[in-house]
Amino acid sequence: MNAHPRVAELDVHLTPDDLAAALRSDARAGLTATPKALPPKYFYDARGSELFEQITALPEYFPTRTERALLEGSVDRIAEASGADTIVELGSGSSAKTRLLLDAFLRAGTLRRYVPQDVSAAALRGALDALGAEYPDLELHGVVGDFTRDLGFLPRGGRRLLAFLGGTIGNLRPAERAAFLAHVRSVLEPGEQLLLGTGLVIDEEPLVAAYDDAAGVTAEFNRNVLHVLNRELGADFEPDSFAHVALWDAENEWIEMRLRAGRATRVRVAELDLEVDFAEGEEMRTEISAKFRPAGVRAMLGEAGFDLVRWWADDDRRFALSLATAV
Ligand code: SAH
Ligand code: AVI
Repeated sequence: MNAHPRVAELDVHLTPDDLAAALRSDARAGLTATPKALPPKYFYDARGSELFEQITALPEYFPTRTERALLEGSVDRIAEASGADTIVELGSGSSAKTRLLLDAFLRAGTLRRYVPQDVSAAALRGALDALGAEYPDLELHGVVGDFTRDLGFLPRGGRRLLAFLGGTIGNLRPAERAAFLAHVRSVLEPGEQLLLGTGLVIDEEPLVAAYDDAAGVTAEFNRNVLHVLNRELGADFEPDSFAHVALWDAENEWIEMRLRAGRATRVRVAELDLEVDFAEGEEMRTEISAKFRPAGVRAMLGEAGFDLVRWWADDDRRFALSLATAV
């Protein structure tokens, strides 16, 4: 037994200063837009990442356990077909489900290195500490970065599988999503693979419930972005005066999360030297979570230069895993 777990490397492509600068610019743009909107990546400070982990265990939030079950049934086939020595994961969070992949690739005898990438340094550090102890022989190389920007870090050489799980691709707007997939394709060699998790279009009721749980955890997660703005930008939002809204946009086939002002308020954002007025009942968009149809997944992969080679979905067709090869 190896008594000295390897210390994971951590590359920081996005420093706290970079993130703060991006937040300043995104918050100014989003708070002065009509309607107001904030990008979802700012949910994930240490508390937001912890709240997301709580969401994954909620009875209403089926995506995580559905994807886990799909992985349980497919990882050995994926590992055999792939032969990858490196698994790169974007938006890896706690890497909880990834352990299924790591175990299968280790059983197949090919895996040497795991490269998790996340915008949340806190989530990444927590994951790497745990993984270092659990997988002492695996090379761990964490990357703090923004996957819409920092894909240049990808280690070269060998054979790589790039995992993007959880349905996080649905949190990108359509144009961002296409640019993101094309960028992912451009950093892979022909023959290398992408493992993609996508939520599927289902009935409205269970879908909305997944984003509006009875215990109010998703509401807290949603309001957390206001705590982030208060702390990072000296804003004076009163988070509890904003109501959590989750609705199904049938035309765009996405869930939209919003924060609704309970009363007319003027918010001061000290670091931006900005005052922002919210009318009573005004809603600010904080996240979209797009759901897909099978043909749509195939098409978006094809347009980015991937060939869909395998597809797994649960019996209720709520979530899918796609294995695609870069052509
Ligand atoms: N993959 C995990 C976590 C999903 S939560 C799962 O399936 O359960 C989404 C993760 O993506 C969070 O850890 C968040 O910090 C990260 N994330 C969100 N936007 C990001 C961005 N632009 N770049 C990198 N990571 C991002
Ligand atoms: C990370 N992402 C895939 C989650 C989702 O389902 O869109 C984030 C989330 N938002 C509310 N609940 C979970």
